[in-house]
Amino acid sequence: MQIREKIAFCLLVVFSATLMVGLAFAANKAPEGDISIHSGDVFKNFKQGPVLFPHAKHKALKCTDCHHEYKDGKNVWQEGQEVKKCATCHKLEADGKIVKLEKAYHDKCQTCHKKFKNENKPTGPVTCAKCHQKKK
Ligand code: HEC
Ligand code: HEC
Ligand code: HEC
Ligand code: HEC
Repeated sequence: MQIREKIAFCLLVVFSATLMVGLAFAANKAPEGDISIHSGDVFKNFKQGPVLFPHAKHKALKCTDCHHEYKDGKNVWQEGQEVKKCATCHKLEADGKIVKLEKAYHDKCQTCHKKFKNENKPTGPVTCAKCHQKKK
């Protein structure tokens, strides 16, 4: 290779690597739009309809208020890392310290909304029908 071609090749490699890291990071960003939570893999027979979750309304919080991966009892998940579905770890029934999926969601979502409500701050829904959409 000519020296110029070598330089061009090196630049291309560096550029592609930067792009790939950038894309990987962007892929783990909180989605702007609402997510519809409906964990069919776990709940085979739903009693309730899906639940809409807007990340945009939760921007004041830390990602780690909701996302976690525990190692030796400590949350080691950090912003930018891949986000696993809650249902990857929380199942139909509890497994030791890992509470069942229904409880995981209710403990997370409802508890916080109630806390903000009690403090007379803007909050999210606290009643079944305001979180759960109508069953289809
Ligand atoms: C703050 C939001 C919120 C509120 C309030 C709430 N839930 Fe849920 N609930 C969820 C989420 C999120 C899930 C997970 C949904 C899924 O994966 O389909 C869930 C799951 C469930 C499930 C298991 C899945 C199913 O459909 O069988 C049941 C049952 C349930 N909720 C009942 C209730 C009842 C009854 C109330 C009122 C007393 C209630 N929820 C209030 C957020 C909420
Ligand atoms: C109030 C709770 C909460 C906060 C705060 C939060 N998230 Fe989430 N996030 C969720 C829930 C719930 C889901 C859906 C999980 C599931 O489907 O199992 C989710 C899903 C995601 C997903 C996967 C999206 C998809 O379409 O698969 C990414 C990426 C993500 N969050 C990133 C972030 C980042 C980055 C932050 C901080 C800037 C953040 N989240 C803050 C609750 C939260
Ligand atoms: C990688 C596996 C994993 C994922 C993904 C995960 N969890 Fe957990 N979660 C755990 C483990 C393990 C614990 C128990 C931690 C401990 O007490 O040592 C836990 C604990 C919890 C607790 C506290 C239990 C209690 O006392 O109420 C809640 C609530 C919870 N998770 C909700 C969620 C929600 C909501 C999501 C999705 C946004 C989620 N988890 C995703 C593994 C996971
Ligand atoms: C740590 C606290 C916290 C957690 C956890 C949390 N929320 Fe919220 N949520 C809030 C607050 C605070 C608001 C109000 C934000 C505002 O209006 O400025 C809100 C707003 C909302 C809204 C918008 C209501 C509206 O009137 O537009 C929905 C829907 C919602 N939350 C659903 C959920 C669901 C579903 C979960 C669980 C997956 C969840 N939230 C977890 C604090 C929380």
